[in-house]
Amino acid sequence: MSATGTAVRLAIDGGAPVRLRPWHDNLTTGDEEARAVRAVMASGYLSLFEGSHRPDPPFSFFGGPAVQAFEAAMSAYYGMPHAVSVNSATSGLYAAIGALGLGYGDEVIVSPFTMTACAAAPLIYGAIPVFADVEADSGCLDPGAVEARITPRTRAILVVHQFGIPADMDALLDLARRHGLRVIEDCAQAHGARYRDRLVGTMGDIGVFSFNVNKTAQSGEGGCCLTRDPDLAYRLQLIRNHGEAVVGPAGYADIANIVGFNYRMTELAAAVALEQVKKLDQLNARRLALVEHLRRALAGQDGAAPLTPLVGRADCTSTWYLLPLRFDPAVARSDRATFVAAVRAEGVPLSEGYAQPLYLQPLYQRRHAFKHGYPWAAAENRESTPDYARGSCPVVERLHDEAIVVGEHVRPPHTEADMDDIARAVRKVADGLAGRERRP
Ligand SMILES: Cc1ncc(COP(=O)(O)O)c(C=O)c1O
Repeated sequence: MSATGTAVRLAIDGGAPVRLRPWHDNLTTGDEEARAVRAVMASGYLSLFEGSHRPDPPFSFFGGPAVQAFEAAMSAYYGMPHAVSVNSATSGLYAAIGALGLGYGDEVIVSPFTMTACAAAPLIYGAIPVFADVEADSGCLDPGAVEARITPRTRAILVVHQFGIPADMDALLDLARRHGLRVIEDCAQAHGARYRDRLVGTMGDIGVFSFNVNKTAQSGEGGCCLTRDPDLAYRLQLIRNHGEAVVGPAGYADIANIVGFNYRMTELAAAVALEQVKKLDQLNARRLALVEHLRRALAGQDGAAPLTPLVGRADCTSTWYLLPLRFDPAVARSDRATFVAAVRAEGVPLSEGYAQPLYLQPLYQRRHAFKHGYPWAAAENRESTPDYARGSCPVVERLHDEAIVVGEHVRPPHTEADMDDIARAVRKVADGLAGRERRP
């Protein structure tokens, strides 16, 4: 029976689902981006990068006008002197590890509750990823857990502002200062998020952003690194663009880790990303309005609800790339799998958990990234004995295996009416499962 006394027939039991209309994919672009792309097409130059020491236009080591305008917009928005565009945040993370000179013999502390490239980035350069547990309320690195994993070989912390919730930067920066560690901020999910009064991506040595198609600001694929340090900026540019062919003519001496890639953004992607930066505040405000609406709609009358959105960190502005919902089995009167399956049947796709803890991937379980078991097998890394066993980060495992449900709906072009559908489906399932329990 529902609260109004009518019998509830759940869609999993053959009832009519709450929603038949399909959900949309992320749509953040509009006329401005279309005009910008047409302007690039009309110019005839889809890229103006040159993989050699050629600083001047039209073809240049630093890219064409759209690339440079996008970088200038990122610099201005974040108040950072240097922005280096790349073709993805994955490329940006790899370039950041390279630019910081990390490699064999070094350990980098990373979150296991995030996207796989965060841990792959140290591996690519022969450094060892060491996983530390996260905070249950944010999904971001727990400074206490990070401190417990610091060894004489630790050189850096790769901090992720997970879901757009800022990590506890004061505590993490304090740890880094006390132990002489570099800090990379992964802001792939957190464009425009603020830790107290500071924008994410401006507090560590390098901030890395993603503009992939799912992100809160996007150009299909794309990325950007921010730094205050001119030498780090140049190193990022070298790694982005075949640095080994450039350092000789440029007379650049510190060539370790400068063997380069092609991480260059096209003029087309940069033109779209530029428009997205211009409307970033507007895009974030829309998302926050959807989150607040859904938060109110999901709240139980007596404060108890089967799914409760995380609130983010106090005094900070979270931007909610995804909205993680805490699952309460006592209120739901079911296990998570049953509840999520029932909500999905009502036409509202939710996922159980977020990402499998990264250390459970075969790569870490077998300690085999490259031939001969490198980088773990390298002589310089023999002292590194990171714990990749199940149970090594219990909070992450509990979040993923039991506590969290994730929805991808708080994004344009969805509206408040769509958020109401989510809340209706959740309420109906809670009522329906309670009714099943009461039936003999
Ligand atoms: C936290 C995080 N870091 C890095 C990435 C990689 O971004 P990209 O797809 O631009 O390589 C992602 C993308 O999902 C991400 O969520």
